[in-house]
Amino acid sequence: MERIIIKTQTARSEILIGENWESVDGMLPGSGVVIITDDNVLDIYGDRFPQFPVFSIAPGERSKMFEVIELLAEKLLSAGIDRTGFILAIGGGVVCDVAGFLASIYLRGIRCAYVSSTLLSQVDASTGGKNGINLGNTKNVLGNFRQPEFVICDPSMLHTLPDEEFFSGLAELIKTAIIGNERLFEMIERNHEGILRRDTELLSLMIGMSVNFKASVVSEDEKESGLRRILNFGHTYGHAIEISGLARHGFAVASGMEIATSFSLLKGLISEREASRIRDLLNQFNLLREYNIPDYQIEQLILHDKKKTGTDLHFIFVNGIGKAVVEKIPVAEVLSFYKYYKSGKQIT
Ligand SMILES: NC(=O)c1ccc[n+]([C@@H]2O[C@H](COP(=O)([O-])OP(=O)(O)OC[C@H]3O[C@@H](n4cnc5c(N)ncnc54)[C@H](O)[C@@H]3O)[C@@H](O)[C@H]2O)c1
Repeated sequence: MERIIIKTQTARSEILIGENWESVDGMLPGSGVVIITDDNVLDIYGDRFPQFPVFSIAPGERSKMFEVIELLAEKLLSAGIDRTGFILAIGGGVVCDVAGFLASIYLRGIRCAYVSSTLLSQVDASTGGKNGINLGNTKNVLGNFRQPEFVICDPSMLHTLPDEEFFSGLAELIKTAIIGNERLFEMIERNHEGILRRDTELLSLMIGMSVNFKASVVSEDEKESGLRRILNFGHTYGHAIEISGLARHGFAVASGMEIATSFSLLKGLISEREASRIRDLLNQFNLLREYNIPDYQIEQLILHDKKKTGTDLHFIFVNGIGKAVVEKIPVAEVLSFYKYYKSGKQIT
């Protein structure tokens, strides 16, 4: 088991990788705990949950909305949860985002922790203290930064994950490798079969590398005013694809990374060989798909990107495998590169 500590100016969070999730029972207070999960996770793991009230939400992105937060808050009130209460989220990124946001605002904030049950949430969503819900079509508009007290990432839970969800998470793992860890990138390149088998030891090692990288970034820049922005590599175009409803988060980010890689190549930040290695790795796991989204729709969605400041946007480029750089560029440039890329002129 690997224990990674995240220390920010205001909080401390422990990420336990390779820990048996059922040991969470011994880490909770004796009373005042409620569990938030979703219906799929409840079906598979519910009979082994600690003995506390369970509130389950519908699986998927549609639960990341204010009505769900309101409903859950009413349930907490009816269950008599006061300021000493504790929310345990057991689920993927959606459950952690919803439960984390609720814990941060209920009675001005109560304690919380996560058992992270998808690859995406283990490598990314549950580390860093960001939470959020969507507003209509715009992702994560309402939310804040708040570190859970601890997060358990048990890769054995990934054996029950549908393929689509597993590969969606793999894309985020590859993202971390591209922006921050060349050794992880090579490990993914070399372990195709072990990854497909969902080898628990291998995944523990890789999740640990990913979380370590994210933890170092978050410890330096919790509120995303600088360095943390690099974690958004692939997300400018990716979010636009995801919101269109055509792709799961990771697949959308994979396509976003491919476009951002081409953009980086055009800018002379990476070599053709490096760009090919990135594309090959994404293709090796079948993460790149064709999405027929009209240009105007992508443009609208990019224009609504919350990372946009005025007419500029912080865009993340890759400048070598394992390295990324943030540049503030005009939104118009992001849009025109997208058109250029779509017209099939991207550099190969
Ligand atoms: N807060 C952050 O820093 C951050 C970072 C990245 C992504 N996110 C958010 O995370 C969300 C996506 O997370 P996700 O991909 O985990 O999606 P998810 O939470 O919707 O889970 C995906 C599906 O897998 C099911 N599931 C979960 N665990 C399972 C298991 N062990 N076995 C079988 N089925 C299981 C769920 O019921 C759901 O149907 C997005 O809303 C995204 O915005 C947040």
